[in-house]
Amino acid sequence: MAYLESVGNRIAVSGELLLQNLWRLSATIHALVTKQGYSDIHLDFSKCSRALPAPMLGLCAEAAQLRLHGVDISLTLPTDLTSARVFVNANWAHEIDPAHHKRSTYRGNRSMPVMKFDSTAEQTTAVNRLVDSILCTVTEVQRDDLNAIEWALNEVTDNVLVHSQSKVGGFVQLTNFPKTNRVEFSVADAGVGIPATLRHAFPDLNDSQLLERATREGVTRDGKVGQGNGLFGTFEVARASNGRFSLLSGFGNLRYESDELRLGLEKAPYPGTLVAANLDCANPNALADALRIGNKKYLPMDYIELRYEDRSTDDLVFRMQEETDSFGSRVAGTPVRQKLVALLRLNPNKRIRVDMSNVPFVSSSFADEVFGKLFKQIGPLGFASAIELSELSSVTRALIDKAIAQRMQSPN
Ligand SMILES: Nc1ncnc2c1ncn2[C@@H]1O[C@H](COP(=O)(O)OP(=O)(O)O)[C@@H](O)[C@H]1O
Ligand SMILES: [Mg+2]
Repeated sequence: MAYLESVGNRIAVSGELLLQNLWRLSATIHALVTKQGYSDIHLDFSKCSRALPAPMLGLCAEAAQLRLHGVDISLTLPTDLTSARVFVNANWAHEIDPAHHKRSTYRGNRSMPVMKFDSTAEQTTAVNRLVDSILCTVTEVQRDDLNAIEWALNEVTDNVLVHSQSKVGGFVQLTNFPKTNRVEFSVADAGVGIPATLRHAFPDLNDSQLLERATREGVTRDGKVGQGNGLFGTFEVARASNGRFSLLSGFGNLRYESDELRLGLEKAPYPGTLVAANLDCANPNALADALRIGNKKYLPMDYIELRYEDRSTDDLVFRMQEETDSFGSRVAGTPVRQKLVALLRLNPNKRIRVDMSNVPFVSSSFADEVFGKLFKQIGPLGFASAIELSELSSVTRALIDKAIAQRMQSPN
């Protein structure tokens, strides 16, 4: 639990920033701006030991909204180096205080940096990138479960574009926990909030009761724009997977955890909407089974289908050029191999054609990391029956051949 202290225009956050600290922090910022008239606020995280993604994402949306109204927020990173690195890598520092902190260059797949979206094109790019990161890291996830997560990500981000009227768009962040097979994501906006959009339909309900309504099947602000499945389905997916689900909007606070639903009313509003879900992918197909809408199991569109299936052949087509920015290092090769392994596991009866067009060269370490290790992992017959390489230059062919031969001779 974090401790907040404000002196002048400076707010110091110490300890661990949790979701339940966000209201206080928002209210403190709000009071400094509206009551005391500050147009620059300083957030001092130097004594912050750790911050969770969901409240930080909420803060990113708030900071963007304040900036739009001429209020600048500056930020001091935690003195704890591990924490400071997370602030930078996750893009929190940049989104909150872009004047002093550069955009994250972190390229890993575990803690994805915050992404912003303000159009369906940006939303699609963000969701695809996130699904891709799950595919590369969470080794136990089943294909239908991946679809269910993709569906939920699409629905919650779609809500920002369709309902929120957020002037700063939406913010999304996802973290993969490969050891526990969990995926956690948050989506935030600085729009009008869920209670404001639903109040006309349920004038007697308070903000937290309105949040609960929003998660029921078929509840939508307008039957012409929605069907009321998005929050319901996302909540069900979280529930089915022994997960957690939180919704913050206006004065309302809805939290589902350990089979228990809690509704709360806060003293200060969260100025927008924040949705956070933590899902357990270890229970095969639980997530997909949860997606029953109108008692019919709902099969959403499928990232793998769209990206890797090819109408002209039964094989999956893996375009190497689109899979990585670099063909030079082991670091670049590891997620590529992990994704090939995941695709083979999720599609046991398919072959993968690895299309090397427009790949000018690969380094020996990249060739070993992807093909050498894959060959060793699935064996010569497995490799021969499942993988086909096409559009290879003769140099690349020789390098991959050599990498595989050497890897087979090495003891590990
Ligand atoms: N980000 C948001 N901002 C404002 N209102 C929202 C947001 N997300 C959801 N809502 C409200 O919750 C309702 C239910 O959302 P959802 O279950 O996705 O159904 P639908 O989008 O089909 O209406 C929406 O109709 C809208 O009133
Ligand atoms: Mg929706």
